[in-house]
Amino acid sequence: MKYFFRIFGCAMNYADAERVASVLADLNFEPAENLEEADLVLLFTCSVRQKSEDKVFGELENFRKWKTLKAGRRIGLTGCMVRKTSCQNSEKKDIILHRGPALDFVWRIEDSKSLHQFLTDSSANWKLETGNFFFIQPKHSNPAQVCIPISTGCDNFCSYCIVPYARGKEVSRPTEEILSECENAVKNGASEITLLGQNVNSWQKQKGAFAKLLNQVAQISKLKRIRFISSHPKDFDESVINVMAANENIERHLHLPAQHGDDEILRKMNRNYTAAHYLQLVEKFRDQLPDASITTDFIVGFPGETDANFENLLKFYKKANFDFAYFAKYSPRPETPAASFENQVPEVIKKERFKKLNDLVVATTAKKYAALKDKTLEILVERCVKNICEGRSSESYLTKFEGNETLIGKMVKVKIIKPREVELWGEEI
Ligand code: SAM
Ligand code: SF4
Ligand code: F3S
Repeated sequence: MKYFFRIFGCAMNYADAERVASVLADLNFEPAENLEEADLVLLFTCSVRQKSEDKVFGELENFRKWKTLKAGRRIGLTGCMVRKTSCQNSEKKDIILHRGPALDFVWRIEDSKSLHQFLTDSSANWKLETGNFFFIQPKHSNPAQVCIPISTGCDNFCSYCIVPYARGKEVSRPTEEILSECENAVKNGASEITLLGQNVNSWQKQKGAFAKLLNQVAQISKLKRIRFISSHPKDFDESVINVMAANENIERHLHLPAQHGDDEILRKMNRNYTAAHYLQLVEKFRDQLPDASITTDFIVGFPGETDANFENLLKFYKKANFDFAYFAKYSPRPETPAASFENQVPEVIKKERFKKLNDLVVATTAKKYAALKDKTLEILVERCVKNICEGRSSESYLTKFEGNETLIGKMVKVKIIKPREVELWGEEI
């Protein structure tokens, strides 16, 4: 039997899929090369924005057709859209099963050990196997570049965000478990490890604990690069900066989602820091790591955002002098408080603000990238398509150059020849 994964959303879903692949391998399933040869399709869903959910429903329609073409084909779904492990015959079924009649079963990711029951018992007479989902040894899809969750869930309840409802309370994995997974990954050829958590800085709910863990991971011999996402400005502090400065194999990059640059909006977002506090962190970070890059996330058009609030966001962007930002128009998520806030911003204004921010981000990044011409960066090659290789430097600068598939997973020195707006082109030296 063969399976096919369709993964949406963030690195957390990709890491989860690697554990599910391992459960399937124990059940004698193999990965399919393509959809046609698959007997089972599993979707890993994201609900961070309405668009993310719409994409899932769009794809479900395609998979519904795929299912009718051969008897015995099945479709399962997990990830952030699922609230209750259930199937079409369950007494109480998840709402998504009503909206997607082609779905056979949906499951909470922490119930993955019971996958064999979902596949064989359509009466839903399941005895869910509880226990630590993280005990499942992952089957890494790219052994050179590995993501390792250090925690799951989130307790921060930012007023716009679905994650605490979708992924539950924050649970930190123990140090030994994380270190042993990192060591195994390196033994199996990992050059880069990314430590994952919705807020890595609150790991184990103890100030300084994450910095200590980061330092321990950095001591693993032969590990060339360590990344971590995401940091939270209310918990990120000097302890992490100090460990980064002391260990060259930790990325020269900080992803510190700001979400906004105006104090009134930050308060309504329940972020628990001010713009000034954020800018102080940036200053402290650059004091110790002047050549490192800083990227961030923003939401534009949050309920009640005025022109003045938005102008403050633009000013904040300029002050922080970010290397790059990911941003999206606010999308109301049912279940979250902000969805019922007054003064929702009309779509045309969201679009206008999105464009203004985009122009600023592109112009700032283009200027920064132009300064990298003739510099040499060490790129970990992630993919090569039609002889164009692509990867990132320690600063997380996206870089492309001519090469072939044998370079995937290798660290390659690349001289920057042609900086483009938000990507760099170079040649291997
Ligand atoms: N834990 C991280 C943090 O604290 O920033 C980010 C997690 S969230 C899954 C990823 C990004 O999605 C956020 O940084 C935010 O910018 C964006 N996001 C979350 N909810 C959103 C919403 N309702 N509308 C638009 N963007 C949203
Ligand atoms: Fe969502 Fe906020 Fe948690 Fe990030 S910290 S996952 S934005 S609730
Ligand atoms: Fe990630 Fe989307 Fe869930 S961003 S945590 S898969 S809502």
